[in-house]
Amino acid sequence: SERGNNEPHRPQYHFTPTDNWMNDPNGMVYLDGEYHLFYQYYPDSTVWGPMHWGHAISTDLVHWEHLPVAIEPDSLGYIFSGSAVIDHDNTSGLGTKENPAMVAIYTYHDPVGEKEKRIDFQTQGIAYSTDKGRTWTKYAANPVLKNPGIKDFRDPKVSWVEREDGSGKWVMSLAVLDRISFYSSPNLLDWTLESSFNPDWAAYGGVWECPDLFQLKASDGTEKWVLFVSINPGGPNGGSATQYFIGDFDGKNFSAEHEDVKWLDFGADNYAGVTWSNVPEQDGRKLFIGWMSNWDYAQVVPTHPWRSATTLPRSLELVKSGDGFLVASRPAAELQALRKSTIEITEKSIALEEELVELELTPTVGSNFEIELSNEKGEKVIFKKSDDNLVFDRTASGLVDFEARFAKIHTAPLNGLEVKSLKIYIDRSSVEIFVNDGEMVMTELVFPTEPYSRLKLTSFENPGSMHYLKSIW
Ligand code: FRU
Repeated sequence: SERGNNEPHRPQYHFTPTDNWMNDPNGMVYLDGEYHLFYQYYPDSTVWGPMHWGHAISTDLVHWEHLPVAIEPDSLGYIFSGSAVIDHDNTSGLGTKENPAMVAIYTYHDPVGEKEKRIDFQTQGIAYSTDKGRTWTKYAANPVLKNPGIKDFRDPKVSWVEREDGSGKWVMSLAVLDRISFYSSPNLLDWTLESSFNPDWAAYGGVWECPDLFQLKASDGTEKWVLFVSINPGGPNGGSATQYFIGDFDGKNFSAEHEDVKWLDFGADNYAGVTWSNVPEQDGRKLFIGWMSNWDYAQVVPTHPWRSATTLPRSLELVKSGDGFLVASRPAAELQALRKSTIEITEKSIALEEELVELELTPTVGSNFEIELSNEKGEKVIFKKSDDNLVFDRTASGLVDFEARFAKIHTAPLNGLEVKSLKIYIDRSSVEIFVNDGEMVMTELVFPTEPYSRLKLTSFENPGSMHYLKSIW
């Protein structure tokens, strides 16, 4: 299409709404060959407002088709973040076993209650679709989970949890001020509080939001439960970020097996990310995307007529690290289809002929390095290893003065981790860095006024290669 694909800073291989405001990804669910992506959307402005669920679908996680807004505000409130499941056994009675309902579970945010300073203005509601997400009906007896008297009570992430005896129940993880509460239900309609999780050593810089609870299996067969919790503010490099916990969930309680704070991403721009539900078992991946922005400046970034993109789709992996485990984020394999040409890097300073680039670099073992992206205007991004830290400097990356908290130097402590490989994706307004196959990630927005046209590498003996990428438009 002519519209919405070529404005300055318009991402060329990331999902963006054609116009207006987007924040969190919502309700990601796979059904019959289609990956559904819903998202927090305000169709009347490029800043946050009364929330709807926007909707797009993809067959490959890379090319997206925009569909009409799926769920609109009603008398119970705005439609805040939440999840979607396929009710295969028709536990809710909202579909049939032959044609199971796609059920969305989301937060109602009642602006009237908020204005009147009531504390119970966030509740959980559901809507369902029996035509593959194309049309939605709100459940007649909403809300399905009332507010017990806590101001922040939101972002339900629901999944089917199987018991040892083969029976199962729905489990909802819910952000409740600064803890995660777990509720269970036989039918998605009636919910019982099971427990809450808020260890005193976790990160509490801000309110807890957008939890996700799921299982991951390491390559040696070890299975763990993982809990994602987005927090805002309080991220490692300011503002919004996602911490995670690794441990066990017994159907009632989640317990962590460590007492250190773990961050999914050390860049400033990966927030509120959660995983897809109903991905076929033979695929076996836990697929993830996040909102590629930060509440510190999301509403003033210099893009028009839309604001925000999602991160690249990533596959989450449980990886051994020291005595414990970590959650690695790997770029989804489908992204390789974007490659159109490959160039071996033999020089220290390389002209970039095109703006969409994937770099695959091998740093020299044990040594510091520096990577610089720059354009003719002198705008530049510097990413380097400085002893036991990774450093991403976007202070001179292009447009930076739209918000004081944007132009910053971000650091990621390596804690002895050896940097063996780097994969770096450059789009028109983002740089995503994957260290050692995603063991450490930095996702960063940048707004150069013309494309970066030069790559300089310092202290690489055998740098590696780069790929020019196709646009999805
Ligand atoms: C996270 C968040 C959620 C909320 C939504 C509102 O970015 O604040 O907690 O449901 O955005 O748009």
